[in-house]
Amino acid sequence: MSSDHSTYQPTSGLGKWVDSRLPLPRLVHDSFVSYPVPRNLNYAYTFGGILMVMLVVQILTGVVLAMHYAADTAIAFQSVEKIMRDVNSGWLLRYMHANGASFFFVAVYLHIARGMYYGSYKAPREILWILGVVILLLMMATAFMGYVLPWGQMSFWGATVITGFFTAFPGIGEPIQQLLLGGFAVDNPTLNRFFSLHYLLPFMITGVVILHVWALHVTGQTNPTGVEVKSKTDTVPFTPYATVKDALAMSIFLIVFAYFIFFMPNYLGHADNYIPADALKTPAHIVPEWYFLPFYAILRAITFDVGPIDSKLGGVLAMFGSIAVLFVLPWLDTSKVRSAVYRPWYKLFFWIFVANAIFLGWLGAKPAEGVYTALAQISTLYYFGFFLVILPVLGLVETPKRLPNSITEAVLAKKAGNGGAAAAAAASPETRG
Ligand code: HEM
Repeated sequence: MSSDHSTYQPTSGLGKWVDSRLPLPRLVHDSFVSYPVPRNLNYAYTFGGILMVMLVVQILTGVVLAMHYAADTAIAFQSVEKIMRDVNSGWLLRYMHANGASFFFVAVYLHIARGMYYGSYKAPREILWILGVVILLLMMATAFMGYVLPWGQMSFWGATVITGFFTAFPGIGEPIQQLLLGGFAVDNPTLNRFFSLHYLLPFMITGVVILHVWALHVTGQTNPTGVEVKSKTDTVPFTPYATVKDALAMSIFLIVFAYFIFFMPNYLGHADNYIPADALKTPAHIVPEWYFLPFYAILRAITFDVGPIDSKLGGVLAMFGSIAVLFVLPWLDTSKVRSAVYRPWYKLFFWIFVANAIFLGWLGAKPAEGVYTALAQISTLYYFGFFLVILPVLGLVETPKRLPNSITEAVLAKKAGNGGAAAAAAASPETRG
């Protein structure tokens, strides 16, 4: 927000002094207090705030854990056990950090699903969306490297399998793999560079989040109707309206988070990661953390060669492609109407997409054989079909429902039942656009 529209009034002498030199309090006030947000935002719009809190939780707990952790294959496993047993509240820090990663992904997937349902990625918010996808990729890289640090069986074998994917690329694959590993196999140099990058990436995420929120403040938020803000009556100030809603959602989210930390701290982890890494003993099933399972299922679904592309390369391309397709989503959706609320067919296909993504996650945890492979292939087809066929075609053929003229009209119509649209129009004629 430019200071031309600012309503910030420093009251004290010190406040005025700071404001004329570095107007940081003004920036905070204009972004989080007086900032106008659509008056009809629902709880689906609270996950961005929750994500910010989770990012801070991960950085704070991570920095303290790093004070006690030793990135050396000889003692990494024991150093984590020492954190759990000897370091004051070390068990709490570790359980917060490990479960925090899972809850971070819960929040980010819900945040993305909200964006897809309400068409948040459409013009003029393409850059905001793309920055989000960059954050998602950085989060995945961070989580993957973090999981290697405790140096348990899954850490070691997960790292071996994932870095092995790169060898699928002819020519450049092996040099890339060796660069990642710092050698020819997962070993001490791998652990050291993963630790270094695991510490660095969250700060890069923070940088991209700042750009993400900046872009958000340029375009403004969408809202469940998908109709843009047209007048002052369409908005309310961020504080107290959005702050209170965010605080309630955050409290509920943090209560569930605390429940996991205190009552089922290992539920989301894998028992094999409590066995120290052993390069000579391969676990019966190598499975990634739950939040990677849908992508793992897509990777393993490609069991056939396509022309010069063998099944291994095909799987890796499909897995990377399943994220890459999100970058071009704003241009794949051809519909002029933004929100699923007014797109009955899109709504149906969207919910099938969600169910399909969960199903892919379930398949990712199953052995890649027999009926599971066939089901994963069908699910992978729907995953890509949704983006590459359904979205472009649906936008051209679907007849959307009638859109409200304004956010205010939609809100008042909802309150007053069917007759409300007329009431709303009468109540605020200036909102009609
Ligand atoms: C660390 C991760 C992230 C943080 C801290 C974050 C933060 C936020 C915040 C605070 C908002 C405004 C509140 C809200 O709408 O919930 C927002 C909106 C948005 N985010 Fe994120 N975000 C993150 C990741 C992502 C990802 C991975 C995507 C997409 C792939 C994404 C896409 C969007 C979009 C499109 C909006 C605008 C929503 C609208 O106005 O309809 N974000 N984000």
